[in-house]
Amino acid sequence: MTSCYKYLRYTNSPTRRSLSSLVTSNFVSYSPSVFARRQFSNTATMANIQNTKKTYKLNTGDEIPAIGLGTWQSKPGEVEKAVEAALRAGYRHIDTAFAYGNEKEVGQGIRASGVPREEIWLTTKLDNPWHKRVQEGIAKSLENLGTSYVDLYLMHWPSSTDPNDLKKHYPDWDFVDTWREMQKLVGTGKVKNIGVSNFGIKNLERLLNDPSCKVVPAVNQIELHPGNPSPKLIAYNKSKGIHSSGYSPLGSSDSPLYSNETIKSIAEAKGRSPQQVLLAWGLQKGWSVLPKSVTESRVKANFDLDGWGLTDEEVAKIDAIPDRFKVCGDDWLPEGVKVFFGDDE
Ligand SMILES: NC(=O)c1ccc[n+]([C@@H]2O[C@H](COP(=O)([O-])OP(=O)(O)OC[C@H]3O[C@@H](n4cnc5c(N)ncnc54)[C@H](OP(=O)(O)O)[C@@H]3O)[C@@H](O)[C@H]2O)c1
Repeated sequence: MTSCYKYLRYTNSPTRRSLSSLVTSNFVSYSPSVFARRQFSNTATMANIQNTKKTYKLNTGDEIPAIGLGTWQSKPGEVEKAVEAALRAGYRHIDTAFAYGNEKEVGQGIRASGVPREEIWLTTKLDNPWHKRVQEGIAKSLENLGTSYVDLYLMHWPSSTDPNDLKKHYPDWDFVDTWREMQKLVGTGKVKNIGVSNFGIKNLERLLNDPSCKVVPAVNQIELHPGNPSPKLIAYNKSKGIHSSGYSPLGSSDSPLYSNETIKSIAEAKGRSPQQVLLAWGLQKGWSVLPKSVTESRVKANFDLDGWGLTDEEVAKIDAIPDRFKVCGDDWLPEGVKVFFGDDE
């Protein structure tokens, strides 16, 4: 046991070094034979990890692929290639939105990839100034994307903005009304699932408790990374049968997470990049992840998530990172609209 511990501790192999943390934590508790079995089963379990094939079952019975390509801030001329590269690399989930202004190019990328439409999970979102025009909103998105249906249609924000004055919220309409309209899309063939985004517990409670709410959202797409882990909201979503999908999983552009010492040391120990560690963390926490990149090498690297994983100890270390930050706030929404109430609510 002692020699085994020493060997593992002093070797430079990334796999061995990651195992050394296991050994350290289990050192006192296990006899050599138990330890050997543990070590073997852990390695075997890690080798069996198939994140790129992983799906999460939604409350509708559909299965959403665990890793999706994000497309926010993907400029014209870049996103078509990124989508094509992602699908060729094996991604089967693309996340876009009317508000990103790139649905047309996303559609072109899908067609250029040659991957059959029915093999791809495609999510788009209803923009805030379209809340009173849900039927028109989905029709416009489908036209842009060049497809007859989306797999998931999300209400992008719980904010119904007056299209004639983007600084104003409708006085006579809010997200409960919008959801009532979105529910009418179910069964039309235009959307396979409907869901919400940027909903905290407070707004979800309002939505779910309204008598007009007949369909529980299949998904709540929210900001999720170690700087904004939202455990209460995750638990709430789960308790209601709502799948949590994590946006900005890398901490978005100029992410402070890449220089975080905990992330860096785990990445180094595993011979992985900080980005891969962040994605593995999200997947092991139980949500889908939507990394965005328009750089082909990064698109591929972000999908290199099979055959390895984080130990429970590594996940716990990331959970314990104390620094908090948010990529998306609500101060850009019309005056008086608050969406985030602190501490996930
Ligand atoms: N529902 C919502 O309100 C909402 C809000 C925000 C985001 N989202 C969705 O979630 C997706 C992801 O969030 P996000 O775009 O904010 O950020 P993100 O995926 O956390 O990070 C994207 C940034 O990381 C860089 N990057 C990606 N992979 C990298 C790698 N392997 N090494 C180094 N840098 C890397 C990208 O650069 P390059 O592109 O230059 O490679 C880009 O600057 C969005 O694109 C969107 O689809 C939804």
